[in-house]
Amino acid sequence: MNISVIALGKMGLPVAAIWAAKGHQVTGCDINPHLVALTNQGISHITHEPGLAERLPELVRAGRLRATTDTATGVADADLIIVLVPLDVDPVDHRPDFHGMDAAFSAIATGMKPGALVVLETTVPVGTTRGRFLPVLEAGGRRVGVDFYMAFSPERLQSSRIERDLHTYPRVVGGIEPHSGEMAATFYGENFDVPVFNLASAEAAEFCKLAESVYRDVNIALANELALYAGAHGIDFQQIIPAANSQPQSHLHKPGLGVGGHCIPVYPYFMLHDAEGAALTAQARATNDGMQRAGVDRIEESLGGLQDARVLLCGVTYRPGVKEVSHSPMLDMARELRTRGAVVGGHDPLLTTEEIAALGMIPAAPDGSWPADAAVIHTNDPYYRTFDPRAIPGLRVVLDGGAALDPALVADAGATYLGIGRPAVPARTTQEATR
Ligand SMILES: NC(=O)c1ccc[n+]([C@@H]2O[C@H](COP(=O)([O-])OP(=O)(O)OC[C@H]3O[C@@H](n4cnc5c(N)ncnc54)[C@H](O)[C@@H]3O)[C@@H](O)[C@H]2O)c1
Repeated sequence: MNISVIALGKMGLPVAAIWAAKGHQVTGCDINPHLVALTNQGISHITHEPGLAERLPELVRAGRLRATTDTATGVADADLIIVLVPLDVDPVDHRPDFHGMDAAFSAIATGMKPGALVVLETTVPVGTTRGRFLPVLEAGGRRVGVDFYMAFSPERLQSSRIERDLHTYPRVVGGIEPHSGEMAATFYGENFDVPVFNLASAEAAEFCKLAESVYRDVNIALANELALYAGAHGIDFQQIIPAANSQPQSHLHKPGLGVGGHCIPVYPYFMLHDAEGAALTAQARATNDGMQRAGVDRIEESLGGLQDARVLLCGVTYRPGVKEVSHSPMLDMARELRTRGAVVGGHDPLLTTEEIAALGMIPAAPDGSWPADAAVIHTNDPYYRTFDPRAIPGLRVVLDGGAALDPALVADAGATYLGIGRPAVPARTTQEATR
């Protein structure tokens, strides 16, 4: 089968390579010429997907995968066209910005052949596939279900484990009309050997993905709310989670300094714009986005002020092991700290000093080279499990966002331990620590 994958980003390139490895002839279309050139040389611009960098050269050499910046030409022979152009929201009013997707669908409409199946895999607001993009493909008199086919099928994957997730998670599809849904269900079912939920419509499949995302955002917000309560009452919420979840109907999530990436903090807004009375979803967004400010409040209180205080943020990407800073809670935390007068250093094992500087932070490291009054360990990143507070000159406070550290070790090193949902442990003097 000839397949075109539109956009070769963190999702599109691995997905294109997986289809190519299954024996299909794949053309990847992306507007970024550098990325297209790299792909055609067999070089993966993504380093965190297991096996991708090794597999790509062979697929390109064998002629199974090629890339182009010309989407209209790139889809000309395709039986299946998969769209993975991202859809983000405006940072101020949180409205979706469709310009990249609109351009992609215009190009597809120009180039696609009769009988092609177009599947939108990017998460979108309910009604987008039919209301916004179907008319683009039908322009010129083509009819869905007769001249071409169209469905929505969300990618439910996580970066760094795309291949495993694709072969494990059931597939959700929804056709614009029944035959489109059946075609999509057949393609995915045959190629990935996973159960397929062929829902009643494209809208149902769009909503399924939004419902999953809102579920996660709301439950993380609940965990954050409970964690703040626990911490204020001297209770360690980390102990509560496994104990409460031993009751089969309890599924407490993990608290933290907020949620990041361009999925969970974004998709609830797709629903909020046309949802009457979705107060819980709106509150979850506010609660999760408020966690960075809550963290900064605690550091400020513990230090007795933030003016000229040096604060080192450890783990700037939104998730350990994934080189992605989009919507990372650490960006908001850095802004809030600077607003209150602090000097902000940043470190991440996946980011270069230039990349840290481009985010407005001073490139730094928790190795003694950057004295700091406070350090923040963003998540439970294995890289920081060996974090040694003694190594940082002047360190007085550590905020442990992902419960990665032993509070007693931090206190014994002479710094106050602050956790999310964990009682603070005051710094101990050397004499107290050795007693
Ligand atoms: N990243 C994730 O963890 C994840 C997880 C599940 C689902 N998804 C879905 O995948 C979508 C894509 O995410 P991503 O992480 O791959 O994005 P990304 O930011 O890594 O990549 C986007 C790519 O799209 C290209 N692009 C932009 N406009 C284009 C156009 N008009 N034509 C062709 N290419 C264009 C860009 O050049 C870039 O290479 C998301 O919006 C989301 O719905 C992502």
